[in-house]
Amino acid sequence: MEGIRSILFLISCAFLTLCVTLSPVHGKYYSKTVPFVRMGEKVTNLHFFFHDTLVGKNPSAVLIAKASLPNNGTSPAPFGSLYAIDDPLTTGPELTSEVVGSAQGLWVSSAQGLQTSLVAYFDFGFTTGEFNGSSISVFSRNPVLETERELAVVGGRGKFKMARGFSELKTYFVDPTTGNAIVEYNVTVIHY
Ligand SMILES: *[C@@H]1O[C@H](CO)[C@@H](O)[C@H](O)[C@H]1NC(C)=O
Ligand SMILES: *[C@@H]1O[C@H](CO)[C@@H](O)[C@H](O)[C@H]1NC(C)=O
Ligand SMILES: *[C@@H]1O[C@H](CO)[C@@H](O)[C@H](O)[C@H]1NC(C)=O
Repeated sequence: MEGIRSILFLISCAFLTLCVTLSPVHGKYYSKTVPFVRMGEKVTNLHFFFHDTLVGKNPSAVLIAKASLPNNGTSPAPFGSLYAIDDPLTTGPELTSEVVGSAQGLWVSSAQGLQTSLVAYFDFGFTTGEFNGSSISVFSRNPVLETERELAVVGGRGKFKMARGFSELKTYFVDPTTGNAIVEYNVTVIHY
């Protein structure tokens, strides 16, 4: 009995020591960065153009809700505007180039003040080639006024199951009055 007690005592001491050692130091919100490698993972690069048309004969981005705030600025999408999209993805910057899929989802104008910034909730589905039927999920801030920006890839379907990655964006064209834009996407996806 005494033996068991001392073993329990030793275990709780070890546990306490561990807890004290692992408890976070206040003032730092991240741990040390160490290498992390998983076997069997592959990397694929995707390159295409995204056409977001708010105003035109066939809009592919439509306003579905907006906040009742005064629009003091000139932004076509002031803070609190929510759009549903079904945007074509093409190999070249012209809408007439080959369509390889579509981006479906939502974006919301998410910054207070006059500097437009969005948060994107998109599923990029592909309809041609090796990735026909597969898609990647993007959920990220999208500071559209910066010509070059980065969006997080947080998952995927089909061949992109368990995907993670990032997408480098470059604005190819934007009409500040309508908000119509063509954006070059260069996506790096790590998947199985
Ligand atoms: C917008 O205009 C309203 C009413 O004039 C004002 O109360 C508000 O502070 C303005 N907001 C900004 C971001 O300028
Ligand atoms: C993509 O997949 C769908 C469904 O399997 C098929 O009907 C279609 O023909 C495929 N398209 C191409 C271009 O391979
Ligand atoms: C896309 O990104 C990859 C990796 O960052 C880079 O090697 C490649 O040159 C880029 N391609 C284009 C067309 O920007």
